[in-house]
Amino acid sequence: MKIIGGPSSQALACRVAAGLNIKPTITDFIRFPDNEQYVQIKEDVTDEEVVLIQSTASDSDLVALLQLLDACESAKMVTVVIPYMGYARQDKKFKDGEAISARAMARAVTAHNLNKVYTINLHEKNILNYFSCPAEDLDASQLIAEYAAGLGLKRPLLIAPDKGVRNMVENMAAGMNLDWDVFDKTRLAGDHVVMADKKMDVEGRDVIIVDDMIATGGTMAEAVGILEKNGAHDVYVACIHPVLTRNAVLRLSNAGVKDIIATDTIEKVQSRISAAPIIIEALKK
Ligand code: R5P
Repeated sequence: MKIIGGPSSQALACRVAAGLNIKPTITDFIRFPDNEQYVQIKEDVTDEEVVLIQSTASDSDLVALLQLLDACESAKMVTVVIPYMGYARQDKKFKDGEAISARAMARAVTAHNLNKVYTINLHEKNILNYFSCPAEDLDASQLIAEYAAGLGLKRPLLIAPDKGVRNMVENMAAGMNLDWDVFDKTRLAGDHVVMADKKMDVEGRDVIIVDDMIATGGTMAEAVGILEKNGAHDVYVACIHPVLTRNAVLRLSNAGVKDIIATDTIEKVQSRISAAPIIIEALKK
């Protein structure tokens, strides 16, 4: 088996390869003077089983994934792992004339002959149906729960910032025997959310708010404000996908967040938890 990490998921690919006792395949990525991308797989993949790992947090990451897929044409079998799939939040038409962006991405990826696609904590599971090959969504939330349980927090409480991640947070709490609660969020604009004020039993407790992703940090900042008003001790924010766009890091720190905890589905300094174990487990299956 060859493990090929794309430009956005090099560290994660190395962790997966190490867990399978394989050296990651060397791949080169450069840009031409006009800024177009170029990829080259430095080993022959003819008749090999290939696992391609590449998050698509940016447009250029998606292009690199498509290029790598093309470069794997002679492989016997190609499995693609998209740890963070960009454009997944536009999973349906909200207004007439809109593209279903998640479907467009899935179609582009499965224009190639693939064995299987794995994603991790997709924003909406129905996106799996847009891939024309078998597709499975892996769950990294328990890795965060285990990490949180090891932090030695004071009467910890897990919080879901909205109903979309209610089940995920409930399962995380059940797995580690932690308390949990949920907020009620309404999004008014891309970077503006409001949260219904809610009395919670947070006085003097350490709290971890967990979401599938943190983008602008608006959701988390709003939740932190309410928790602080209610007398929470330390407030941590955690997510599977640290998109952390614009000034999210500054915004969260300014809101009083003690730390940002995230996985390496997107490789950032905050990505202290690796999703490699769940990928390895899926590949071994
Ligand atoms: C939305 O439904 C997602 O689960 C996240 O809550 C959202 O994407 C976070 O975005 P932001 O950090 O911009 O509030």
